This record gives sequence, structure tokens and C-alpha cells, in this order.
Amino acid sequence: MFKKIHVLLILVSISFSNCNETKKETSEKTLALDSKATPSLKNSFGEDFLIGAALNTNQIKELDASAAALIEKEFNTITPENDMKWEQIHPNEDAYFFDVADAYVALGQKHDMHIVGHTLLWHSQLAPWMSAVNDSLAMANHIENHINTIVKRYKGNIHSWDVVNEALNEDGTPRASQFYKVMGGESYIEHAFKLAAKADPSAQLIYNDYNLWKPEKRKGVIRIVKNLQDKGIKIDGVGMQAHWSVEGPSIEDIENSIIAYSALGVKVMFTELDVTALPNPWELNGAAVEQSYERYEGDPKMNPYPNGLTAEAKEKIAKRYEAIFNLFLKHKDKISRVTFWGVNDGQSWLNNWPIKGRTNYPLLFDRNFQPKDVYHNVLRLKTNE
Ligand code: XIL
Repeated sequence: MFKKIHVLLILVSISFSNCNETKKETSEKTLALDSKATPSLKNSFGEDFLIGAALNTNQIKELDASAAALIEKEFNTITPENDMKWEQIHPNEDAYFFDVADAYVALGQKHDMHIVGHTLLWHSQLAPWMSAVNDSLAMANHIENHINTIVKRYKGNIHSWDVVNEALNEDGTPRASQFYKVMGGESYIEHAFKLAAKADPSAQLIYNDYNLWKPEKRKGVIRIVKNLQDKGIKIDGVGMQAHWSVEGPSIEDIENSIIAYSALGVKVMFTELDVTALPNPWELNGAAVEQSYERYEGDPKMNPYPNGLTAEAKEKIAKRYEAIFNLFLKHKDKISRVTFWGVNDGQSWLNNWPIKGRTNYPLLFDRNFQPKDVYHNVLRLKTNE
């Protein structure tokens, strides 16, 4: 980006034939300063926290030039949306597939970004062969092989690992995942963090989960972090996923969690930020999130903005994002990273989850990679300082 503007400016200054040398030098100098100050998320929040996005496979492979340019301009950290999950990277017991993960790390290195690994241990998107393991020793060995192989391969190059993802129920009790059941309790969490720390002592190690603003779930996180710390096992951060809506959670609940996690001596990261404007089934009928919502597919009530947000809905999202970023800035000493879950609205997983085929607007860039009004609302929090 910087280089492109630079070349353009030189061309412009050459085309003014009566421009003298001094003028040209001055304009080049101004340009160099300007490009450092080019309005972008990473330039605006650079002193506060890292700011990034999750990348899908096409974005990692740089198949779309608009996406590639935007990612380079706006973000200084990246997360792979799916390509390092167990089912992708380790689909069979003896087969690892590193092609996309290697391309992902190379992309982050090319732009000198903070590179996140997502995720080592998760009950979802787990390879079927691993879900079928029923013996505790065998499972411990498979976890060891998985973590050693991947973390060592990217040692020094992946800066931060989501070591364990979503190990808690909503009430803060341990989730009865295959790991939990087969290994007899939460020891698998200790096993995973120990292995990751040994495989790359310089990587940041994170526990990542959703709804971590919930007071009951917060207790579960505190239990996990304290247990690791008491046993001398390294943990550096708590990743709050931040799949939120215009209605909630409350800023107060989020803030209480930031304060509580930070008080444990770990960093807080917002690892998967998006803000949905669409109604969600569980708000309507209180149903469990795990349930299937196929019956809502095609229901216009559940997809109220197929052709664009109303002015009122836009305003609501803008205010919500402002409140969220104001909170992040207030606690910037505790927050090390904010990552959006996706680059633009059209590519967000929220167009197909929890109901397929909807039109959602949860991010700061529109379907044509243009910054939306809400992007400017967020940037203004810094430029008006
Ligand atoms: C989501 C991806 O965005 C989707 O493309 C995929 O189909 C399902 O997973 N919590 C996480 C992320 O930690 O890995 C999930 O990503 C969203 C919820």
C-alpha cells in the first residue's frame, strides 16, 4: 500500500513540469509521514492492542486481491478460521496436512504480523478417528503427538496458541467432551498446556471460549487458570471469543470478566469478535444452542435485512461497536489483542450460523471490501482523542 501511494505521488509530481526539486522532496517527505498515518485499524489502535481478523482458505491463499490488500492495510495479527483445526490439519492418525497452514504462516511473516494458531484441542471439528479413541493412554499419546508435531513445526513463527477451546459448559462446569470423558476429568487441559509450553517455550498460550462474560462461566475459567498456575503450568491469556449481538451481553458483564481474568495475572484477548443484528432462535424460544434450527431456514422473520440494513439498524450497530471499543480502550492495559471473526460481511460465518442462508452485517467491511460507516465510528474513537 505504502509503496503504491509512493509511486503514484512521484508520478504526480513529475507530471507537474514546473514543480521544482524542493517541492518534490517536501511532498515525498509528507507522503512518507502520511502513509505511516494512513487511517487504518492497525495504525489507529497500534499503541493500544493488536488488531486482526480470522482468514478463510481463499484469503490465506491470497486468491482475492481486494481481500489481500485490505488484510495488509488494516490488520497486524491473523488467525486461521478453519485450516488449523484438527480435522483439517490431522485428518488421519498418520497423516498431517500442512499446505494451507504453511501458506498461512508465510503470509503472516510476509506482513510481519502476530500469527495466531487456532486451535490445538477442541471437541468440535475434531477428526472422526480421534473422536473414536476410547482409551485414556492412547488419547494422551495422540494429543502429545498432535501438539508436538504442530507446535514444533511452527516454533518461533506462530506467536500465540489457542491451546484448548471451549472446555466449559454455560454454568462453568467442565464440558463432557471426548477428552474429558476418556481421560477422566480436566487433566487433558493440563496435559495440553504442558506439551505446548515444552514444544515452544516462547509462544503465548491461551484458553479460548465463548460467553466468557457470563458470571457462572467466569468461575469455570478462573478454576482452569488457577489450577494450571497452582501446578506451575504456563498459561498466558484468556481468549474471550466475543460472538455478540446488538442487544448483549452488557458492557458491565464483559468488563467484570476483563477485570477478573486480568486479576489472575494473564492477558485478555478478544479473539473472535463479531456483532450480529439478526434475531437468534434461542432468544425467541430459549432453546439450547446445540439444537438444529433448520426449521427457521427461509423464514423472513429470521432474516429481516436481505437487501441491506435499515438506517435504524445501522445506527444500533454503530453505537454498539462504539461502546465495545470504548470498553477495550478503557482496559487496554489488560487487553493484548482484538481479532474480528472474518474480514468482510459477505464472508462471515454468521450468514450461515445458526441458521443457513441469511444476510448478516457483523463486521466493519461490506461485501465489496469497503469500510462501512461503523468502521469510521470505530476509528473516530481514536482520531478525536
Ligand atoms: C467457525 C468457522 O467460522 C466456520 O467457518 C466453521 O464452519 C465453524 O467454525 N468458535 C470458534 C471458531 O472457536 O473456530 C468457530 O469458527 C466459531 C466459534
